[in-house]
Amino acid sequence: MLKIITHPNPLLRKKSQPVANVLTDKIQKLITQMMEVMIAKDGVGLAAPQIGENIRIIVIAYKEKNLVIINPKIIKKSLLKDWAEEGCLSVPNKYGQVKRHKSLTLKYLNEGGKEQKLKASGLLARIIQHEIDHLDGILFIDKAKDLTDIFY
Ligand code: CO
Repeated sequence: MLKIITHPNPLLRKKSQPVANVLTDKIQKLITQMMEVMIAKDGVGLAAPQIGENIRIIVIAYKEKNLVIINPKIIKKSLLKDWAEEGCLSVPNKYGQVKRHKSLTLKYLNEGGKEQKLKASGLLARIIQHEIDHLDGILFIDKAKDLTDIFY
Protein backbone atom coordinates (compact mmCIF):
# COMPACT_ATOMS: atom_id res chain seq x y z
CA MET A 1 0.00 0.00 0.00
CA LEU A 2 1.23 3.50 -0.82
CA LYS A 3 2.12 5.77 2.09
CA ILE A 4 0.43 9.11 2.55
CA ILE A 5 2.92 11.87 3.25
CA THR A 6 2.07 14.43 5.88
CA HIS A 7 2.65 18.09 6.63
CA PRO A 8 5.37 19.53 6.74
CA ASN A 9 6.79 17.31 3.95
CA PRO A 10 8.01 19.78 1.25
CA LEU A 11 6.48 17.68 -1.58
CA LEU A 12 3.07 18.87 -0.34
CA ARG A 13 4.16 22.43 -1.12
CA LYS A 14 5.32 21.92 -4.73
CA LYS A 15 3.22 22.88 -7.74
CA SER A 16 2.29 19.69 -9.59
CA GLN A 17 2.77 19.18 -13.33
CA PRO A 18 0.06 18.24 -15.87
CA VAL A 19 -0.18 14.66 -17.12
CA ALA A 20 0.13 13.91 -20.88
CA ASN A 21 -3.21 13.13 -22.60
CA VAL A 22 -2.19 9.55 -23.35
CA LEU A 23 -2.16 7.79 -20.00
CA THR A 24 0.74 5.40 -19.54
CA ASP A 25 0.57 2.08 -17.67
CA LYS A 26 2.56 3.73 -14.91
CA ILE A 27 -0.10 6.44 -14.53
CA GLN A 28 -2.92 3.86 -14.62
CA LYS A 29 -1.22 1.87 -11.88
CA LEU A 30 -0.73 4.98 -9.80
CA ILE A 31 -4.45 5.84 -10.11
CA THR A 32 -5.41 2.32 -8.94
CA GLN A 33 -3.05 2.61 -5.98
CA MET A 34 -4.38 6.07 -5.10
CA MET A 35 -7.94 4.67 -5.04
CA GLU A 36 -6.82 1.82 -2.79
CA VAL A 37 -5.15 4.03 -0.26
CA MET A 38 -8.00 6.58 -0.24
CA ILE A 39 -10.58 3.86 0.42
CA ALA A 40 -8.38 2.16 3.04
CA LYS A 41 -7.95 5.46 4.91
CA ASP A 42 -11.64 6.36 4.65
CA GLY A 43 -10.82 9.51 2.71
CA VAL A 44 -13.26 11.29 0.39
CA GLY A 45 -10.47 12.58 -1.82
CA LEU A 46 -6.76 12.18 -2.47
CA ALA A 47 -4.36 14.15 -4.65
CA ALA A 48 -1.17 12.67 -6.15
CA PRO A 49 1.18 14.96 -4.15
CA GLN A 50 -0.14 13.27 -1.01
CA ILE A 51 1.56 10.06 -2.10
CA GLY A 52 4.67 11.98 -3.09
CA GLU A 53 3.95 12.37 -6.84
CA ASN A 54 3.83 15.97 -8.05
CA ILE A 55 1.46 15.38 -10.95
CA ARG A 56 -2.08 16.69 -11.49
CA ILE A 57 -4.20 13.67 -10.57
CA ILE A 58 -7.05 13.52 -8.05
CA VAL A 59 -9.27 10.64 -6.94
CA ILE A 60 -12.58 11.25 -5.18
CA ALA A 61 -15.04 8.92 -3.46
CA TYR A 62 -18.44 10.57 -3.42
CA LYS A 63 -21.84 8.94 -2.97
CA GLU A 64 -20.63 5.43 -3.85
CA LYS A 65 -18.97 6.79 -6.96
CA ASN A 66 -15.25 6.91 -7.61
CA LEU A 67 -14.08 9.81 -9.73
CA VAL A 68 -10.67 10.12 -11.37
CA ILE A 69 -9.84 13.70 -12.24
CA ILE A 70 -6.72 14.44 -14.28
CA ASN A 71 -5.49 17.95 -15.18
CA PRO A 72 -8.54 19.68 -13.66
CA LYS A 73 -9.43 23.17 -14.78
CA ILE A 74 -12.18 25.13 -13.07
CA ILE A 75 -13.93 26.98 -15.90
CA LYS A 76 -16.74 28.51 -13.85
CA LYS A 77 -17.33 29.12 -10.16
CA SER A 78 -20.12 30.65 -8.14
CA LEU A 79 -19.67 34.05 -6.58
CA LEU A 80 -21.33 32.65 -3.49
CA LYS A 81 -19.09 30.92 -1.00
CA ASP A 82 -19.75 29.10 2.21
CA TRP A 83 -17.88 27.81 5.23
CA ALA A 84 -17.71 24.19 6.34
CA GLU A 85 -15.42 21.93 8.30
CA GLU A 86 -12.54 20.20 6.54
CA GLY A 87 -9.79 17.80 7.44
CA CYS A 88 -7.02 16.17 5.41
CA LEU A 89 -5.23 12.80 5.40
CA SER A 90 -1.95 14.73 5.11
CA VAL A 91 -2.74 16.88 8.17
CA PRO A 92 -3.81 14.26 10.71
CA ASN A 93 -5.97 15.16 13.71
CA LYS A 94 -6.69 18.72 12.64
CA TYR A 95 -9.98 20.21 11.53
CA GLY A 96 -11.01 23.70 10.62
CA GLN A 97 -13.59 25.84 8.86
CA VAL A 98 -12.75 26.68 5.25
CA LYS A 99 -14.54 29.05 2.88
CA ARG A 100 -15.12 27.62 -0.61
CA HIS A 101 -17.14 28.41 -3.72
CA LYS A 102 -20.57 26.79 -3.44
CA SER A 103 -20.57 25.44 -6.98
CA LEU A 104 -18.26 25.13 -9.96
CA THR A 105 -17.86 23.74 -13.45
CA LEU A 106 -14.79 21.65 -14.11
CA LYS A 107 -13.01 20.33 -17.21
CA TYR A 108 -10.66 17.38 -16.82
CA LEU A 109 -9.52 14.05 -18.26
CA ASN A 110 -11.00 10.85 -16.86
CA GLU A 111 -9.19 7.54 -16.27
CA GLY A 112 -9.54 6.77 -19.98
CA GLY A 113 -7.83 10.02 -20.94
CA LYS A 114 -11.15 11.38 -22.24
CA GLU A 115 -12.08 15.03 -21.74
CA GLN A 116 -14.98 15.51 -19.35
CA LYS A 117 -17.07 18.39 -18.06
CA LEU A 118 -18.65 18.28 -14.63
CA LYS A 119 -20.91 20.60 -12.66
CA ALA A 120 -20.62 20.20 -8.92
CA SER A 121 -22.06 21.87 -5.87
CA GLY A 122 -22.07 21.40 -2.12
CA LEU A 123 -19.75 18.76 -0.70
CA LEU A 124 -18.46 17.55 -4.06
CA ALA A 125 -17.54 21.11 -5.11
CA ARG A 126 -15.75 21.50 -1.76
CA ILE A 127 -13.78 18.27 -2.15
CA ILE A 128 -12.72 19.27 -5.68
CA GLN A 129 -11.46 22.67 -4.49
CA HIS A 130 -9.58 21.10 -1.56
CA GLU A 131 -7.90 18.56 -3.86
CA ILE A 132 -7.02 21.10 -6.59
CA ASP A 133 -5.37 23.18 -3.86
CA HIS A 134 -3.10 20.17 -3.17
CA LEU A 135 -1.98 20.26 -6.81
CA ASP A 136 -0.90 23.87 -6.25
CA GLY A 137 0.91 23.21 -2.99
CA ILE A 138 -1.87 24.65 -0.82
CA LEU A 139 -3.17 22.94 2.33
CA PHE A 140 -6.51 23.60 4.01
CA ILE A 141 -4.69 24.80 7.13
CA ASP A 142 -3.46 27.78 5.08
CA LYS A 143 -7.09 28.95 4.70
CA ALA A 144 -8.82 27.58 7.78
CA LYS A 145 -10.22 29.41 10.76
CA ASP A 146 -10.98 27.81 14.11
CA LEU A 147 -8.31 25.16 13.58
CA THR A 148 -8.81 22.46 16.17
CA ASP A 149 -6.64 19.53 17.25
CA ILE A 150 -8.52 16.34 17.84
CA PHE A 151 -6.98 13.60 19.92
CA TYR A 152 -8.66 10.24 20.20
CO1 CO B 1 -6.22 17.09 1.73
